[in-house]
This record gives sequence, C-alpha cells and structure tokens, in this order.
Amino acid sequence: MKHLHSGKVRDLYTDRDGELLLVASDRVSVYDVALPTPVPGKGKILTQLSLWWFDQLAEVVPNHVISATDVPAEWAGRAIRCRRLDVVQVECIARGYLAGGGWKSYRADGHISGVELPPGLVEGDRIPGGPIFTPTSKVAPEDGHDEPMTFAEVTSLVGADLADKLRSMTLEIYTHAAAIAEKHGVILADSKFEFGVTPEGELIVADELCTPDSSRYWPLDGWKPGGSQPSLDKQYLRDWAEAVPGWDKTSPGPEMPADVVAAIKRRYVTIYEQLTEQPWQE
Ligand SMILES: Nc1ncnc2c1ncn2[C@@H]1O[C@H](COP(=O)(O)OP(=O)(O)O)[C@@H](O)[C@H]1O
Ligand SMILES: [Mg+2]
Repeated sequence: MKHLHSGKVRDLYTDRDGELLLVASDRVSVYDVALPTPVPGKGKILTQLSLWWFDQLAEVVPNHVISATDVPAEWAGRAIRCRRLDVVQVECIARGYLAGGGWKSYRADGHISGVELPPGLVEGDRIPGGPIFTPTSKVAPEDGHDEPMTFAEVTSLVGADLADKLRSMTLEIYTHAAAIAEKHGVILADSKFEFGVTPEGELIVADELCTPDSSRYWPLDGWKPGGSQPSLDKQYLRDWAEAVPGWDKTSPGPEMPADVVAAIKRRYVTIYEQLTEQPWQE
C-alpha cells in the first residue's frame, strides 16, 4: 500500500493495479481548515453514509466504488476501495435552498456563481424554479478557500461539453437525493459533488456522496425560512468556530472542547440513523 496524499479529512493510498483506497479519518475541517481535535468514529459514519448514498443513487449515476469490504482490516468500515480517476478540478455544488455562502452571495448582489435569482428571497427559502448549479474552484488547502465560479469560467476551464455534463449530472443527482432525503424527513438543502474521468473517458461520481460534510441537512419539520435553519450537518461546527475569539479561519484551527466534540458526533449519528433508518453501531 503506497501513501499518495492526505486531504483535510481523508488519506489516499494506492494498491494493486493502481486501485485507490480512500480512508476517512476522524478529522473534521471547518472553513477549509482541519482542526487538531478528532471526532471519534466520524470517519466510519461518513464512509457508511456515503456508501448508502452510492447505493441509493447507483441507477442515477455510476460511481467510483469497487468494494467497501476488500480493504485492510485496520481500516475496516472507514475505507473504500475505488477506481482512481482523473478528478475534475471543479467542486460541483447544487443548491435547492438559500443558505451559507449561497445566501451571502445572493444578499450581496442577487447572484450565486453567476446565476441570477429573483429578488425578495429570504435565508432558508427554497430556490424558485428548482435547484441551481453553483460551482466553485477546487483549490489545495494551502492555497486558501474555494472561490465561486461562473458557468462560463467552468466552460473555459474544462470545455463546453464537460461543463454541460457536470451541470446536468449535478442537478440530476441532487434532485434524486433531495427526494430520497425528504422521504426520510430531512431537507437536503445543498450538496457538493466531485466527478472524475475513467481511463475509458466516462464521467462518473467520485469522492464522498451526500455526507453531512459535503451537504446541508435540515429537519423537514423544523424548516422555517427567514433565518438560519436547525441543521444536522457541520453548521453547528461553523457557528462554534466563527465564535472562537481571535481565530481568523487559517491553519492551525482551534482545539474543540469535549462538549463540542460530543455535539458534533451526535449530529453525525442522527443524520445517519434518520436517513438509513438503521441504528448506528460503533
Ligand atoms: N476516485 C478518485 N480518484 C482520485 N482522487 C479522488 C477520488 N475520489 C476522491 N478523490 C480525491 O481525494 C481527496 C479526498 O480527501 P479530502 O480529505 O476530502 O481532500 P480535500 O482536502 O481536498 O477535500 C480529494 O482531493 C478528492 O478529490
Ligand atoms: Mg474533500
């Protein structure tokens, strides 16, 4: 097993035939900075939830999973054997609701990643006319934060053909996933997808899928546009990090106290259990 790269939360290895082992650690990142305090069990929850989603959406889009069980014993539950792809350098975000950076951008000038929205919307609103594609650049952690990209910028980066495919696949995956989530009593407000190209030239979905690290989840029965929403994702962590005195969102991040770790863990378990309708087992 050869170590290739460590991202903010996952470690990548290659194995026989160049297959990839994607190993989710218990690290958490916020505002693109990995924090020094782990959340025990988090990597396993995210891996299992991602696998559940790959399965749920297998008919909608092909994915990079080869096996969830053919992995070294020490990483059981937190690793996925997958196809090593040429990852498209665009973070493909679909938004069905106004929140986070999307809300900030709309409030500033009525647009998100160059997409114009009607005036008068409030935070937490469902986006009229259906979900929108609001890509960002995919940058190395040391290069700072992801920046919004217009569709024209995506086109000039990857070509018109691929840009069109990224947009239509992103919106299609989101639409299916949001409908599934809603059946389980949660709103999938937005989600980020990464795509990769196979050696045969096929575009498939990579990375993680609809986890609370890559998505916003809101309990359906608590949804009330007009402010920030109660959430089952990393919003709690963002709110906490935002309030840490003197932290300017650069590395190193602040240590998390035990009660914050527990609160975050509880949210990861809750969203896993609510979606899969299975109890989480450590
Ligand atoms: N099938 C794949 N082939 C190659 N790279 C992949 C694949 N799936 C995911 N990746 C990459 O693995 C990394 C996952 O680790 P992560 O900690 O999320 O990194 P980051 O800090 O870049 O978000 C990402 O850079 C992602 O693009
Ligand atoms: Mg990532």
